[in-house]
Amino acid sequence: EFCKTSEIKEILYKVLVVGNFGVGKTSVIRRYTSGIFSPHYKLTIGVDFALKTLIWDEHTKINMQLWDIAGHERFGHMTRVYYKYAIAAIIVFDLTRQPTFDAVQKWLDDVRQKVVLENDEPVPVLLLANKCDLDNTTAQVDQSKLDQYCEDHNLIGWFPTSAKDNTNIEEAMSFLIEKIMQIS
Ligand code: GTP
Ligand code: MG
Repeated sequence: EFCKTSEIKEILYKVLVVGNFGVGKTSVIRRYTSGIFSPHYKLTIGVDFALKTLIWDEHTKINMQLWDIAGHERFGHMTRVYYKYAIAAIIVFDLTRQPTFDAVQKWLDDVRQKVVLENDEPVPVLLLANKCDLDNTTAQVDQSKLDQYCEDHNLIGWFPTSAKDNTNIEEAMSFLIEKIMQIS
């Protein structure tokens, strides 16, 4: 028999995607999982799910389960149950709207308060500065400020992204997966 038994490990990672309404969470997820972008805004109600399957290497298949959590405040009271068993989080803000960056701290506090790993370590959190394709980005949020913010608040890093132009979406997600694999 020429039957080769190859051991493939299949892993499921639950990742939360949070941030204020309209920053582009659904768009980033859709770009990553389906390769498409829509300019029309259809707000998320409650939570949505998306799955991305990656053949990481010859031994590992990764299922990224992305929990797309509504940014609108009025859904806030429902979220605690969504956070359970998450292994990482992505906080998204909109580079053209300074208040969405100011709200990053609120989302981070929320994540830190509701999710810890089994070993009591904080989950890795990645920051996405989305809509970098637009010209009217806020001057107050520059590269050095974001570097400093990540360092001060123990985030794994940040990327300027565009769901529209497909900038840094793959790169950011791969970076996050690498970090998750280091801890799990
Ligand atoms: P909620 O579901 O309400 O929390 O919003 P969201 O964070 O899921 O935002 P969504 O992905 O629905 O995007 C909001 C609007 O921004 C839509 O009109 C998108 O087309 C637009 N948008 C998202 N990402 C980008 C981007 O990278 N560049 C540009 N120019 N527009 C974007
Ligand atoms: Mg949405």
